[in-house]
Amino acid sequence: MLRYSAFLFKEFLESVVRVGRKLRASNYSRAALSPEATALAKDGIYIRPNYFSRNVCEELIAKIDSYIESGNNNVWVDDQEADHRLYFINEVDSQFQEIFDDPYFKAVLAEHTGTQSPKGMLLAAKLVYKAGNKGSGGGWHRDSPFQHQFKAICYLSDVQEENGPFEFIEGSHRKRQVLVDCLKRFWKPGQYRFSNSEIDDYIKRSGKKVVTVCSSAGSLVFADTKGIHRGRPMLDGIRYVLFCYYWHNQIPEHFNKLRQSRK
Ligand SMILES: [Fe+2]
Repeated sequence: MLRYSAFLFKEFLESVVRVGRKLRASNYSRAALSPEATALAKDGIYIRPNYFSRNVCEELIAKIDSYIESGNNNVWVDDQEADHRLYFINEVDSQFQEIFDDPYFKAVLAEHTGTQSPKGMLLAAKLVYKAGNKGSGGGWHRDSPFQHQFKAICYLSDVQEENGPFEFIEGSHRKRQVLVDCLKRFWKPGQYRFSNSEIDDYIKRSGKKVVTVCSSAGSLVFADTKGIHRGRPMLDGIRYVLFCYYWHNQIPEHFNKLRQSRK
């Protein structure tokens, strides 16, 4: 009972803080929401194909490869050597900084969360198929159990069923849905990691839809990563993806060791 009370209080507090930020954000009370912000509020995900040209994608892929191979960059690699990540690559490369600063991304972020001057970074990732890989993010999860989070994801490769598409359970970021699912005992209050069998059972019994983003190079995805999501485990191939992370106050401390300037 105490656990449910704490859970409800945290959800309530999150709403108060976020609505306060939105009311302070310019235009919030005057303008209708954009299609992007409307989709984020309702579904938690918005997909826009062809945001970047193929030429730009190829140029960025070549840069990622050279940064990974140079030995001069801070590259995070998982145990299986399937996942290679260049966190904060925007701080050493102006082209990535320009993407991170895209006014379009920031306008949608401000509409969705009320955050107008975010702190954050761009992560460039190269993912290669290795037998037994768990997929990007290590399986189904929420980035935060309570806080709504906005992420801009840019596909630099064509992504199909076999090379690890982004997957998102539609509407799973919504406060009402989180509460209903907890009351129905699908999840425990505050739960943010989920086994495959929990998700399979949830989809079967709730009828909720999993959005699988199979899309061409250059596609852009906005997601509220409070919603349940994962990168599907890869069956084959390779993919390159950019992730723009934004926070309202400060970058969480544990990301500092991943900065490029550290090496
Ligand atoms: Fe995530």
